[in-house]
Amino acid sequence: MMRFNRAQRLFLTIAASALALTCTTEKIVYRSGTNFAAPPGSAANFIGYYDVANKQTVCGSCHVDYQTRWSATKHASAWSDLQASGGATGVCEACHSVTNLGNAVSDTAVGYRTTKDARYHDVQCESCHGPGLTHASSPTAANRPLASIQADTNATNGCGECHNGVHNPFVDEWKLTNEGGLSHSIVQSGTVGNADQTCVGCHTAQGALNKFGVTENYVEKVATNGLTAANALPIVCATCHDPHGSDNAHQLRFSISAPNIDDNLCMKCHQRRADPSQVTTRNSVHSPEGPTLLGLAGWFPPGMSAGDSIIGTHGTPSRNPELCATCHVARYAATDLATGKFVFQATGHRFIAAPCVDANGVPTTDQSCTITGKTFRSCVSSGCHATEAVARTLYLTDSTRILQLIASANSALAKVKALKPGDCTLGGPIYTSCLGAQFNVSLAQAPGGFVHNPFLIEQLLVASINQLQINYGVTPSISVPLSLQFILPPREHVSGGAQR
Ligand code: HEC
Ligand code: HEC
Ligand code: HEC
Ligand code: HEC
Ligand code: HEC
Ligand code: HEC
Ligand code: HEC
Ligand code: HEC
Repeated sequence: MMRFNRAQRLFLTIAASALALTCTTEKIVYRSGTNFAAPPGSAANFIGYYDVANKQTVCGSCHVDYQTRWSATKHASAWSDLQASGGATGVCEACHSVTNLGNAVSDTAVGYRTTKDARYHDVQCESCHGPGLTHASSPTAANRPLASIQADTNATNGCGECHNGVHNPFVDEWKLTNEGGLSHSIVQSGTVGNADQTCVGCHTAQGALNKFGVTENYVEKVATNGLTAANALPIVCATCHDPHGSDNAHQLRFSISAPNIDDNLCMKCHQRRADPSQVTTRNSVHSPEGPTLLGLAGWFPPGMSAGDSIIGTHGTPSRNPELCATCHVARYAATDLATGKFVFQATGHRFIAAPCVDANGVPTTDQSCTITGKTFRSCVSSGCHATEAVARTLYLTDSTRILQLIASANSALAKVKALKPGDCTLGGPIYTSCLGAQFNVSLAQAPGGFVHNPFLIEQLLVASINQLQINYGVTPSISVPLSLQFILPPREHVSGGAQR
């Protein structure tokens, strides 16, 4: 259906330009290339704009909806923004115009670098798709200029050829991994090529685009059942950002503010297994962050109403509009302590909420520092907490409380396991409170859980300990106060913002 519509549009466009010509067939109109002036040889097959004033690309004269969408992105004003900055010099130009950067061309003597013509201003179609003279002159399936979705780990093509360096270190940050090897730039081993095809929907770029309903073609496209460790790409820039623009800020494919796991960009993946109804073979959580933040994760013992979410400030859009991204995608400029001069623009594209930083505040490669080495500036810049010290103290008190509850729950679980081992392994006729309590402990231990929703985690652990006592008569050998210590904020908070 979509293909038919596009074909119709292409036909109309071609027919319209044919009118201006002598009697020709569609194909001759293509080949004659009369809707654009022949590009100078020095530009090496890059064609750029045919109408500079209206930012009309040659590509877009046929691919009309891509032209419309692209023209609303910041890529389309890259040149004028550079000039308006007042700092424009020759070295700035290559990333703000059509050149070898962003596409498969490795020769630098191309595009605007060799032909200082306004037709090559801005980040246009060919920045990502590569030179298109042959295709635009005679478009066929054989010469279609497919774009790559590589983020660029090897500086040959992809968004990272421009989005790099101390001013724009998006790819530089993205490709660093954390301790434990968790990172959007890694494909977790065992997630491709196995029988469970659902893994690739969250763990690979191709699988995620497929799951998101992106049907467009690109260089690395492979049927998801053909993905292997060798050809699978991790969560690249184009997984989260739509290269042609979107209705969301920053060309994001989905909203970061939507408070539900189906529509929120981050939660579309960070939600694999967060409650026992999703239990298959493992009685533990797997990326439970979305449902945790929204107060829906965990095993709700009888007495805790399963329909009711227990949701804190961090998961309330009126108080934390960007939800996950507030803490995990925080941008800030670091300055040299001695001189006060700019040293680094952190982009938040390591996706670490409280990263380890050096003395100037630049995130360090090694992320194994103690809590005093972590910056909590995203908690403050968001306007939520008064100072970094306040946020750090809360982190410590909350984690201490949760760690104590985990130890207490585990001490009760040990007694139940000795008494009724059969009740504590999956496979029995019912889902027992021993299984539920174990599930809640795994949720409480998931990294960041006590930041995402301390209220929920505390209530689940307290209720689990009480339920084990009711069902098995056990009391924890490590006893802690079971009265709730964290005061849940009012449900519909309007003004002020009690700073916790
Ligand atoms: C004269 C019209 C015309 C122009 C100009 C044109 N294209 Fe195309 N393009 C087409 C047609 C028609 C197809 C379908 C070709 C086929 O599959 O037979 C196509 C296919 C494509 C495809 C592949 C789509 C798919 O389904 O696989 C890409 C990518 C593409 N064009 C990009 C570009 C870019 C980038 C430019 C500018 C350099 C450009 N096109 C200029 C008409 C045009
Ligand atoms: C040729 C260099 C180049 C390439 C290739 C490139 N970009 Fe950009 N990008 C820029 C420049 C320059 C800007 C800033 C434009 C401005 O604000 O004037 C920008 C801006 C952006 C923005 C900011 C949007 C906003 O609204 O804040 C996003 C998002 C973005 N690029 C994503 C991407 C993605 C994703 C890719 C790869 C699919 C990519 N870019 C490829 C140079 C490039
Ligand atoms: C390595 C590629 C590259 C070079 C070289 C480069 N830029 Fe950019 N520039 C970018 C990218 C990528 C963005 C988008 C950053 C973003 O949206 O956060 C951008 C954004 C901008 C913006 C718009 C956003 C803003 O910060 O207001 C201005 C203005 C700008 N650059 C000016 C310059 C100047 C001046 C120079 C030369 C001193 C320069 N750029 C050199 C890649 C580059
Ligand atoms: C920032 C990089 C970037 C820019 C700029 C860009 N594209 Fe693309 N384009 C891509 C990527 C990546 C894909 C494949 C993935 C996707 O569409 O999300 C793609 C896919 C396409 C397709 C394939 C559609 C299909 O049916 O398979 C066409 C056609 C296309 N782009 C045309 C254009 C045109 C025309 C422009 C300029 C008006 C443009 N693109 C600008 C990166 C870009
Ligand atoms: C397409 C699926 C997908 C999307 C969308 C996604 N993630 Fe992830 N994320 C993953 C996967 C898979 C991993 C684990 C990567 C690995 O295998 O090591 C991960 C890892 C992480 C990590 C831990 C890695 C680290 O470096 O500490 C954080 C934090 C994270 N994501 C936050 C986010 C945030 C915030 C968003 C939204 C802006 C988001 N994610 C969007 C799939 C996704
Ligand atoms: C897991 C999802 C995810 C991935 C992967 C990702 N981004 Fe982003 N990016 C975001 C989010 C979310 C924001 C907006 C943050 C905000 O609004 O606070 C953003 C913002 C941006 C911006 C605008 C920043 C600004 O303030 O002007 C640019 C440019 C950008 N990303 C480029 C890239 C590039 C290049 C890559 C690949 C190296 C990439 N992103 C990978 C989620 C992602
Ligand atoms: C709904 C999205 C989603 C699906 C489906 C998914 N994962 Fe994950 N997985 C994630 C995210 C997100 C992370 C990052 C850790 C986190 O967020 O807690 C992750 C982490 C992991 C990890 C590293 C951390 C850990 O818990 O050991 C492994 C290994 C893993 N997944 C394997 C798999 C396998 C195998 C499958 C298929 C059977 C799969 N995943 C299916 C989203 C998913
Ligand atoms: C209020 C700030 C905040 C919000 C909102 C938030 N996080 Fe976190 N998150 C944190 C902090 C702080 C940690 C680190 C805990 C630690 O270091 O022990 C963390 C840890 C994580 C981790 C474990 C890996 C890591 O980097 O330590 C993942 C994955 C994660 N968060 C994903 C998400 C996702 C997805 C969302 C949205 C559903 C989200 N977070 C919302 C603050 C937040």
